[in-house]
Amino acid sequence: MNEQTDRFGRHIDYMRISVTDRCNLRCVYCMPKEQQQFLPKTMLLTTQQWEMICKAAIEMGIYKIRITGGEPLLREDIVALVERIANIKGIKRVVMTTNGVLLAQKANRLQKAGLQGVNISLDTLDRMQYKILTKRDALADVQKSIAVCQEIGMPVKINCVPVGGLEKQDYLQVAMLAKQYPVAVRFIEMMPIGAGAKYQPIQNEIIQKQLTEIYGLWTQMHTEEIGSPAVYWENENFLGKIGFISPRSHSFCHACNRIRITAEGKLKLCLHHPADGDLKILLENGADTTQIKQYFAQKIWQKPKDGHTTDEKRPMWRIGG
Ligand code: GTP
Ligand code: 5AD
Ligand code: SF4
Repeated sequence: MNEQTDRFGRHIDYMRISVTDRCNLRCVYCMPKEQQQFLPKTMLLTTQQWEMICKAAIEMGIYKIRITGGEPLLREDIVALVERIANIKGIKRVVMTTNGVLLAQKANRLQKAGLQGVNISLDTLDRMQYKILTKRDALADVQKSIAVCQEIGMPVKINCVPVGGLEKQDYLQVAMLAKQYPVAVRFIEMMPIGAGAKYQPIQNEIIQKQLTEIYGLWTQMHTEEIGSPAVYWENENFLGKIGFISPRSHSFCHACNRIRITAEGKLKLCLHHPADGDLKILLENGADTTQIKQYFAQKIWQKPKDGHTTDEKRPMWRIGG
């Protein structure tokens, strides 16, 4: 097995691919404008191009691929895309981050195609509040998707971003999902990217205190996923667990193991740094797997040390989180 390491000794083994910039929600902190300029469909990488990029990445040492968006389930060929990636020799994990609105209808087919888990974005369990936060009345669809995933045994993590200043957002209620189901509910500190910059992050330590007041004692768990930014806690009354992703209060850049590719094939070495590299052009110029691997290796060496100094102008929906 190959291993790709950057100049700071970090092993890069996780790739996030944003397969579309379109989204069917309009979250206030991500894509607040109703009318949005999306990439023309011809600019998006094709299934075949994604397959080539993923094959090279896997041969280079990537073991886990996370499919993101925008909203990845808006891609008509999403099941086929998952299947192609899941069938690449050497891949160990194919997972997806989705808003969950369209998941109930597709979960079974995605699982059969090889999808091993979903992270579902859900910031409140109150229908009106959900509508205010996402501008769509789609909470019931997301709840159905979570239930369907339980039925078919698809592992689920819930991503909850508390939005500072929105008094009514009952983010603590979302933790109840981990009481009811064997899922991980993760609280994420708002990052100042795109529209997110308008909102104050709520520090995870505050949320942790609030959860202790409501639910009693929590015990920190050993990290099971190396390189995952989440720190998990368990409680004897919960079937699942609570995770905290705290980029604002506790940087995890020193352990960063990931690279990202945008929907139009740009390589991003760090969430907070502008894209550096263009795989679409490389593919259009006829690059083969060996050349893509070499390109990756050379770029990864240049991965920035951390994400605190340079600003990313791209909004979150064009990065995929
Ligand atoms: P797991 O693989 O299940 O641990 O998922 P993940 O946390 O890598 O992915 P997910 O798409 O669920 O992202 C959860 C949150 O973590 C999102 O808000 C991401 O933007 C944030 N996140 C993921 N990777 C990074 C990173 O490299 N840096 C920072 N600052 N945040 C990240
Ligand atoms: N800060 C933190 N998380 C964000 N997400 C979107 N925008 C931000 C932000 N500014 C989250 C979404 C989704 C994940 C991919 O990123 O809620 O769960
Ligand atoms: Fe869509 Fe996710 Fe952005 Fe919400 S956070 S608008 S679901 S891409």
